[in-house]
Amino acid sequence: MAAATVSQPPITTPAIPAIPGRNDSSDSSRSSQTITEKVKLSSPLRTSSFSKNRSSQDGNVQVDRSVSPKRWKTFLKAFKHIHDLTPKEVDDFMASYEIYNLDWANEEDMVKAFGPNYQQRVGDCLRSYYSVLNHLCSLGDVEKMYIPPLMDKKASVLDNQLLYEESVAKDIGLRPGMKVLDLGCGRGRVAAHMTSFSGAQVTGLNIDENQIAQAREWNDQCGFSNEFVVHDQNDLPLPFADNTFDAFYEIQALSLCKDPSASFKEIYRVLKPGAKFSLLDWVSLPAYDPADPIHAGLMRRVKPLIGAVGTPTPASFEKALTDSGFAVAKSDNPSIGGLQAPLIDKVDIYFRSVRRLIHGLVRLRALPPHFKLLFDRLCLDGQAFVQMDNMRLITTTYRIIAEKPTV
Ligand SMILES: C[S@@+](CC[C@H](N)C(=O)[O-])C[C@H]1O[C@@H](n2cnc3c(N)ncnc32)[C@H](O)[C@@H]1O
Repeated sequence: MAAATVSQPPITTPAIPAIPGRNDSSDSSRSSQTITEKVKLSSPLRTSSFSKNRSSQDGNVQVDRSVSPKRWKTFLKAFKHIHDLTPKEVDDFMASYEIYNLDWANEEDMVKAFGPNYQQRVGDCLRSYYSVLNHLCSLGDVEKMYIPPLMDKKASVLDNQLLYEESVAKDIGLRPGMKVLDLGCGRGRVAAHMTSFSGAQVTGLNIDENQIAQAREWNDQCGFSNEFVVHDQNDLPLPFADNTFDAFYEIQALSLCKDPSASFKEIYRVLKPGAKFSLLDWVSLPAYDPADPIHAGLMRRVKPLIGAVGTPTPASFEKALTDSGFAVAKSDNPSIGGLQAPLIDKVDIYFRSVRRLIHGLVRLRALPPHFKLLFDRLCLDGQAFVQMDNMRLITTTYRIIAEKPTV
């Protein structure tokens, strides 16, 4: 009984782009069987979420929300975690911002600030930063710590994320049983959506063991056999054998990558010939002029806000990819009108409202003072981000689709 309930919805979702093996009715028995194999049929989450949320409509947006956690549960867990942070965790988080005043491209400054072993120090800061940030973001609509491209003006930030992720599954041709690598996998929520939507099996990699633990827990609850590995992407080689994966995607993790060329060569090594590659990341755009004091001033404010150590450009990413052997198939900004500012604004307004509430509660001593410290830091410079996006100086949603050639 459970098998019928669980296995059918993934192959009947309307308005989702056709993915071979998933929406193709001629192949439906194979799809449903493969997905059923991945689902622990006793899982209460699967039975309830598939029947309630699959293809639900909200403001005319049709998207697979079947493996999106309940907002209020996520909020309460995150709130408790932040409440119980130790003073050292708070201090380390605040101190970690120093890395965003530096840039991988300027090694001299890195060595001056952190010594010759600067990569290790940046890694430590990234761990301190993300182990707290993922909980702060989970108080809002960005548990998956990225503001997505604007895919649908009427949709929420979360639905825009889901729509973008479904477009990735299509772009890299995910099918049931494929093995796909997710670099900088957050709490494994994107991985769960990819599996739910396509039937592919995801291996996620993240520097932060706290997020990896949550990724494992959530994907287990979903009944997926996805795997999650704690590893710093800058420690090469990656911990995978040659020709392991059928596809690759990353969402806003390469801005933390020390040497994109070296990383792309590694990704090329672990992909099978013919495998597709998807990148969505932060870049500075051609209109950005570092010699312009207004541009440079905005950049100094925005880099810490979005947590970027490197400052790649579309051209530098494309060159690093082709130098590594990839063929670039698409290089563009998928946002409607090329701007994600409406979504950044939504997130910024929400978090500034929460900050006002937090200030009041800290004043009344209903919350410990570190809440104010964290929220003041989190909410700093959101409008500078909106301004840079509107001026088309930067985006955090530049997309590149590439392929490892078959010969
Ligand atoms: C801006 S978030 C992107 C959102 C993320 N892709 C998701 O699915 O939620 C960057 C992610 O990359 C991870 N990360 C940062 N530096 C890393 C590193 N050096 N190696 C591996 N993962 C890293 C962070 O812990 C975080 O989960």
